[in-house]
Amino acid sequence: MWLPSRFSFKFSVSALRRGVPPSYPHVVRRGGCNTAAFMPEAAGFEGVSGRAALQEFSVSNSEDFWAAVARQRLSWIRPFHTVQDCDLSRGRIKWFQGGMLNVSVNCLDRQVHICPERVALIWERDERGSEVRYTYRQLLEMTCRVGNLLKRHGVRKGDCVTIYMPTCPLAVASMLACARIGAAHNVVFAGFSADALAERIRDAQSSIVITMNQGVRGGKVTELKKTVDTAVQSCPTVRHVFVAMRTETLVPMTDRDVLMDEYVFSYHDGDVFGCVADIGWITGHSYIVYGPLANGATTVLFESTPVYPDPGRYWETVERLKINQFYGAPTAIRLLLKYGDQWVNKYDRSSLKTLGSVGEPINTEAWEWYHRVVGEGRCPVVDTWWQTETGGICIAPKPSEPDEEIVPGMAMRPFFGIKPVLMDTEGKVLTANNTSGALCIAQPWPGMARTIHNNHERFIETYCQPYPGYFFTGDGAYRSPKGYYQITGRLDDVINVSGHRIGTAEIEDVVNQCPAVAESAVIGYSHDIKGQGIYAFVVLKKNMKIKEEDLYKQLNSVVSEKIAKYACPDFILLVKRLPKTRSGKIMRRVLRKVVESDLDSLGDLSTLDDPAAVQEIIEGHAKISMK
Ligand code: WTA
Repeated sequence: MWLPSRFSFKFSVSALRRGVPPSYPHVVRRGGCNTAAFMPEAAGFEGVSGRAALQEFSVSNSEDFWAAVARQRLSWIRPFHTVQDCDLSRGRIKWFQGGMLNVSVNCLDRQVHICPERVALIWERDERGSEVRYTYRQLLEMTCRVGNLLKRHGVRKGDCVTIYMPTCPLAVASMLACARIGAAHNVVFAGFSADALAERIRDAQSSIVITMNQGVRGGKVTELKKTVDTAVQSCPTVRHVFVAMRTETLVPMTDRDVLMDEYVFSYHDGDVFGCVADIGWITGHSYIVYGPLANGATTVLFESTPVYPDPGRYWETVERLKINQFYGAPTAIRLLLKYGDQWVNKYDRSSLKTLGSVGEPINTEAWEWYHRVVGEGRCPVVDTWWQTETGGICIAPKPSEPDEEIVPGMAMRPFFGIKPVLMDTEGKVLTANNTSGALCIAQPWPGMARTIHNNHERFIETYCQPYPGYFFTGDGAYRSPKGYYQITGRLDDVINVSGHRIGTAEIEDVVNQCPAVAESAVIGYSHDIKGQGIYAFVVLKKNMKIKEEDLYKQLNSVVSEKIAKYACPDFILLVKRLPKTRSGKIMRRVLRKVVESDLDSLGDLSTLDDPAAVQEIIEGHAKISMK
């Protein structure tokens, strides 16, 4: 069995056993439930009645289940002849073979056929009260124009277009345009620096980058085009940069640049799905663009921040746009909680039906506040667990029978077609409840990742080999006595800052590029607002004389330039050496324990090369934390 390096099986089970949180039955009515409430096509599944029976059917008759969903909910250019041909242990994942469809047609044409004037997008612009609505017909039109533009500039099936834009209608149209003409899209979070962008453009070998003159967020302007200009200098494949105008500021243009036209707006009513993520992350892909549009919903594109111009922004937006489902990140909820209830109570939230949370574990305090204050105790809070690799929600409290409980801070129930399992350190499936293990998924489902672009070997190594025959999520989970799942966090060294994942190695790599730095170790520590903060332990080069504050400035600027602002360390501790194993591996586990002030469980230090290093770190940390 292969495990990621520094694999630690010490889940924070103690935190889970701090007491069983109360549960919240959302009692609407008692009694049996018709499966049609969850899925109309389930009527064709013999003897299946109720949510639990449907879940059971979806995993034990996975092919019938997914075939029915695929046939009824999607328009096919050519029907599939084989539902699936998968072998998780070899990383072979094939669904709907022989079939052919266009996802853009499913998100647009299919809806335009049924309801052309329904609002597809509500663009909640940074400037409060200036929202713009686009109907499905308009979005289709915009998408076709971008598609034609791409084709005119030589983009062909199989090419990969880089999109470096904030969340806005043109970004959605660009994604759908790529999908329409058979190109892949590489959406890069618009907060990334020129270097980070360049690396992603090179990886995708894009000939086209789509961007904007400037971005606007929280009242601040970001120079997107300038960043692209710098990035493409080291990207020889780029032939054209398409530039849309978000502000009126003119930016320098070259022969390589193509100015994009403006488009038209209008207004119509629709159901309103408010996912306030950024399209640069997977949540934006699945729950702002593809999911809502493929289902004919009206989706909100939130360009701003939760605190601009004040901490009432989300709830004022809910009132003004009459949002029915609000989907956000725990980090924002924790931040808003600190500002007090008055910012929520000021606004009418009666349109809200469901509150969602995603990206990190939501702590009980934040969950309770979200439920009691934001949702006035009447909206179910759904803590949804999934990841980029799973494509969509895999574990969530709903759908469930109306009278079934919801436990705070737990993702709880597997979604249809998902069969989670917990594994022990030996790679054996843990069957009992009230246990923790590595979270795997036992059988394939259509939305799962099938490969890593240009690196299928890595896909197999990371997801298929650790537990042969199972898809390894990299997360740990606890299964309660009642069989509910609670995610305990990453098992490897990925830090999750405000819902943004970043590998410790990526930050260390940049920190180590500072001329004064010899080496560094970066760890995540729990942070009230951001979920995790970043703590860097830095060893200076010998005889290096640099003022501490100058070094901190240098480190922050290099990290924000090469990665992004959110990756800057919250704490930097200068140390003479790092705790390492004899084979030279940095013992981050020890660093984490020191930072968590959990000195009693430092564990066995005898494997360390130089155990005295730990004492120095303990003392240094004590000084920093007293400052
Ligand atoms: C974490 C975001 C606890 C988890 C959709 C996962 C969560 C990683 C939850 C994926 C949750 C996501 N509770 N942890 N409800 N949702 N995570 O790829 O560690 O950006 O593996 O996808 O976030 O992050 P990603």
